[in-house]
Order: sequence, then structure tokens, then C-alpha cells
Amino acid sequence: MTTLSNEQINEIRLSVDIVDVVSRYISLTKKGKNYFGICPFHEDGDPSLSVSPDKQIFSCFSCHTAGNVFKFLMEYEHISFMEAVKMVADMSGISVDIQTNTTFHKQSKIYDIYEIGQKFYVNNINTQYGKVAKEYLINRGITEEMIKEFEIGLAIKNTTALSKLLEQKNFNDKDLDASGLVVRDDRGFHDFFYDRVMFPLHDMNGKVIGYSGRIYYKDDNAPKYINSKEHPLFKKGEFIYNYNKAKNDCRVKNTVIIMEGFMDVIRAYSVGVKNVVATLGTAFTKEHANIIKKLAKNVILCFDGDKAGAKATYACSNILLSMGITPKIVRLEEDLDPDEYVLKYGKDRFIDKINNPISVMDFKLDYLKKDKDLTQTIDKADYAKKILEELNDIDDDVLREVTLNKISKETDLDVEFLKSKLEPKQVVENKPKVVLKPNCSDMAQLMLLYYMLRYKEVIKMVENKNIYFPNKDFRLLSREIISFYKSHDYIDVGEILSDLDDGMAKTIGMTEALDLKEEYTQDLIDECLKNINDYNIDNEYERLHKQLEQETDILKKQEIGQKINELLIRREEDV
Ligand code: CTP
Ligand code: MN
Repeated sequence: MTTLSNEQINEIRLSVDIVDVVSRYISLTKKGKNYFGICPFHEDGDPSLSVSPDKQIFSCFSCHTAGNVFKFLMEYEHISFMEAVKMVADMSGISVDIQTNTTFHKQSKIYDIYEIGQKFYVNNINTQYGKVAKEYLINRGITEEMIKEFEIGLAIKNTTALSKLLEQKNFNDKDLDASGLVVRDDRGFHDFFYDRVMFPLHDMNGKVIGYSGRIYYKDDNAPKYINSKEHPLFKKGEFIYNYNKAKNDCRVKNTVIIMEGFMDVIRAYSVGVKNVVATLGTAFTKEHANIIKKLAKNVILCFDGDKAGAKATYACSNILLSMGITPKIVRLEEDLDPDEYVLKYGKDRFIDKINNPISVMDFKLDYLKKDKDLTQTIDKADYAKKILEELNDIDDDVLREVTLNKISKETDLDVEFLKSKLEPKQVVENKPKVVLKPNCSDMAQLMLLYYMLRYKEVIKMVENKNIYFPNKDFRLLSREIISFYKSHDYIDVGEILSDLDDGMAKTIGMTEALDLKEEYTQDLIDECLKNINDYNIDNEYERLHKQLEQETDILKKQEIGQKINELLIRREEDV
């Protein structure tokens, strides 16, 4: 693996125009010098994403996500920095020798093998061999259009059909073995899948990496579904069905709906509910949750209506809750799965269900009450204890309060008593702070940062006056700017963004959101510098005064008094 120098990375960055790249994903309109579009990183009504061709950066006025072209691709495509660099290099035909996961994957022969398999299966279903399978699908209400959309195919009865085809293509045996599409025994290769309707499984980039093959006529001895075995590009514990098709809708609605089966997903998608995904009949894992987290903030679980579905909903909710996601729940009546529900009750009633999910705590209250008799003291106590345990995992204060009131009514226990049994909530301070309404000093700091990111003269002024940024996030960014300037002897906001973490990029997003004029005036900078200095002096003054009040030693009191005088003089001079 070769590492690229900062200069090379910057060259790659400047080989494309960020406006062109962003336009591939979002429609942009020119307004003044910049371009505007709907921000894909939060639920955006008005176009608040601004793209600057001059600075080669994007920033959202509303959610403050900001960055250069690499950051845009990283966020949008969920790829690593190096993958984004590689992607941009590919766009402009610069050949770079970077081994990223994607390039490794792109080179993988497994993709090629699946591509051949996919063409073969899709072709089969449209031949005479596919008649019965087609009939089966159509009878289930899966239209020709859906068959095309989800690229559904057929593995024919002949157990060496695909093997023979693949053998002609000169793949090596190792790759064929790894793909799992063929199996080897003493007579050679034969097909892993035969006589099944084939549902392709796509990775996050839309490439086929596996199959689920369904039996399409009655056979009590055969399993309903057979899935591809795992290989380096296909891990069931991380696989999410329909991710690639759903991701845009999930982002726009900021909501992702999770179902149990891919047939449910296909049905929901076909009636216009497109922000929907499924796992592959395996238990929901933390890895799944991590991927889901990036898709959308709101998560709805719409599992099968039966007992098993309720159990799976409960388990999945707990994984999500442990990772800070509070899902909403849809429960379907009569043990129906979403597919059956749509077929029985129609699209509108289904969509109505999806639009009215219940809170995860309401679901849990129901779920934990199912096998209890709340007229019995033991059951009542047991029930209250269980719910209290559950509430300890809930971050949402309001939801906690509402639930406490509910179980108080159900169990006749006093709310205050119940509350006293909850674990005290720990305050976690690791969320990045976003100042929505900056106070005066915040505003001055942000303005200063904005011009520091554009003019080395302003950096020098900050350096000369030895300005201390009172806000920690702003201070960190100011230090980065100064150190960038010291090592490059110029400043470039688009370039510095390659090296910044999300927190600092967000601070830049905040400066951009101020929508300041491109050019600074000396008066404005002086005003900012003075404002920040005064703010620091005032803080120091207050601190010293408190100290003075508490001090009993007369000599020390004099010392502090002296310091206060010096401060006041400094403040005078600062005018
Ligand atoms: N599954 C599986 N193997 C099975 C049964 C199920 O891999 N023998 C997985 C499949 O991924 C399926 C999911 O579990 O999508 C949910 O199973 P189920 O609810 O039984 O399937 P349905 O989605 O209802 O499929 P169908 O309507 O075709 O019966
Ligand atoms: Mn079903």
C-alpha cells in the first residue's frame, strides 16, 4: 500500500470541481457566486446546502455539515477518506496506487463471477424454463415490473448449468470456490443453487454479492429459502437488503424502516414505501445497527405480526437502544407480515400503519404484560421491575416520564417511588456541541475564524495579539489554522478540510452559515479582536473578584488587588 503525500492528495482534490461532483447526487442552482441544493445530510425543506466553486467547499446553513469534495463523498457514499480520494482520482483519470477496501473489492473476481451468475439467472426466468417460476411470482402479486426492479432470476433444474458456463471463463478454482455459487465434489463442479427463484443480494454499492433462492412449488422436505454462504464480500451479520436502493429515500425522510424478510421489503417498495430495508433472516447485530445509524436518525421496526416477530422486535430494539437509537414500532394485526398485510388490506392502510408507529416503551409495556396477570401482586411487582430496568436504557427524558406515569397507573405504585428506583442518569458530554444562538463573543470568534480561513493577514493579526479563543471548539480550530499556515505559508479552507475531524469541520460549517461577505474590513477584525479580549478580561476579572472575596490573608489580598488593577489598565489600552 502506497501512501500519498499531502501535495498529491491536494492535486487530486483540485482535479475535479466540487460543483460537478455534488451535482452528480443533488440538483444545484446557482445563486450569486455559489450553488444551492437540498442538503442530503439532514431532513431539509429549503435548499440549505451551499457549494462554493471558489473555495471548493460545501456547507449546510442548517445542519452545519461542511467539508471539501472528499468529505462530501465520505458522507454521501459512507466511504473512508482514502476511498474518497481514490474515487476522485478515478473521476479525473489520475492513476493512483491506493489499496482501499473498495479497490480490493473492485478487483475481486467474486464480483465478476456473480455478474455472470446474475445475467444467467435473469435470462433463465424469461425463457420457457422460467414459466412456472414466473407464474408463481405473478400469483404472489409480484409483477413483471417488480421482477425487473429487484432483478429476480431463476436457477434452472440442471445442476451443472452455471458451473459449465463459469468453467469456460477461466476463473481459477479458488475464486469459484470462494464465490459459493458452485460446489466441488469428486466429479467436479456443480451448481449450489438449482431449481429456485433467485433473489439477488446487493452490497452497499449495488453489486450482487449473494443470493437467496426460494422454492417455488410445494415441497415439504426442502427449506423455503437457501442463502449464499458467506465469503469475503458477504457477511450475513452486516448484510442489509435493499440498502443501495433505499439510501436516498432514507436520507431524505431521515427515517429507515426495518423489516424481517426481503419479500416484505419488495412489497413495501412496490407500493411506494421506499425507505425500507431488511436483514437476512439472521439476528440483528450491532454491526447492522451501525450501518442503520448512518442511514437515518429515525428508525421504525415493522416486523412480522406474529409472536416470533414481537420477540425479534424486542431483541432488535434492545440492540438499537444500547447504541443510543430509540426506534419506533409498528405492530401488524392477525400475525400478518408486511407483505401479507399489504395484499390483504391494501396500500393505504399499510402506509397509515407506517405513519403511526408507537413508542418503543409502549411496545415494551405491551410485550412484557403479555404473560402477566396484573391483578396479582407478584405479577405486578415483576412487571414494574422489568419496566424500570428497561427505562434505565432510555435517554429520552420525556419518554421516561410518560412511561413512569403509565406504569404507576397500571401497578398502583407511586410515581415518586418508581422514580427513586431508577438508576441516576449519567450525563455524557461527548456529543459535539453546536451553538445555535451564539452569544456576542461566540459570534466574534466565528467571524474571526471565517476570515482566518481566507486571509493569512488575519491569521497574523490573531497571532500578534495573542488571542485566546474562549470557546474550546473554536480554539481548537484556530490552532489548526495557525499550524496549517505555519507549515504551508498560505491558507486554503478547501485544503485544510482534508485534515480536520468532524467537530472542526462542523465549526467551519458554522462560520459558513453566517453568510459573511468575502472581503473583510480592518474595522470588523478589530471589533472582533476587541470583543474577544474584553470577554476574556471580564471573565478573568470575575474570577479574581471571587478569589478576593474568599481570601483572608491580607498580603494575598493585596496581590490579587494588584492583578485586578493591571487587568483594568489592559482593558483601557485595548480600546
Ligand atoms: N429465511 C431464510 N431461510 C428460511 C426462512 C427464512 O433465510 N428457511 C430468511 C429470509 O431472508 C427471509 C426472512 O428469513 O426473508 C424472513 O423469513 P419469513 O418471514 O419466513 O419469510 P417471508 O419474508 O415471509 O417469505 P415468504 O413470504 O416468501 O414466505
Ligand atoms: Mn411472507
